[in-house]
Amino acid sequence: MKKKWVIWILLFGVVLLSLAVLAACGGSTPAATTGEQAAGEECTEIPKPTNAGSPGAAVGLTGDPTAGETVFSANCTVCHGDQGKGGVDNPGSDDGTVPELNPVDACLKSTDATVFATNLDLFIEYGNVPEGESPAKQMPAFGKQGTLTQQQIADVIAYVMSLNK
Ligand code: HEC
Repeated sequence: MKKKWVIWILLFGVVLLSLAVLAACGGSTPAATTGEQAAGEECTEIPKPTNAGSPGAAVGLTGDPTAGETVFSANCTVCHGDQGKGGVDNPGSDDGTVPELNPVDACLKSTDATVFATNLDLFIEYGNVPEGESPAKQMPAFGKQGTLTQQQIADVIAYVMSLNK
């Protein structure tokens, strides 16, 4: 009789332990899902210039990241920093700094190369005035003003994408 009781107590212990393990795993699964949803929600709004028109022809061209690096150094580094790493002050803007492009805003990024290129293209084509009283630095409309050719824009897009693989 005594032996049987020992077995029952042991079994009870095993059941309690498995329940504890299950509870621990069950607890972490919903937390992970919430995290994913939160990240998804953050990106329901892709940053877009307020005065954007349709994407430029650059999106349909094949960009060369090496040529794009030269375009970037000559036209973008002054505001977005060396290799897009940021750290450039923008007094008068709410952000206080020019956004870095390396890493780029997660909401501009996409696993779909055409979507990613289009998100970058709209800023490079049309530029934008950052929020704030009197932002010292504003994103120029390189495409609209014809400062860069569509091929140069395709190249610089390829370069920025290569920095954010
Ligand atoms: C005179 C400064 C200046 C130059 C030069 C400049 N930018 Fe910008 N750029 C900005 C500012 C300021 C913003 C933020 C605009 C806003 O808040 O809407 C910006 C935003 C962007 C964005 C959107 C980033 C985000 O997080 O929303 C991209 C992409 C971009 N620039 C790419 C480029 C590229 C590529 C070049 C070079 C061809 C370039 N920029 C040159 C000032 C500049």
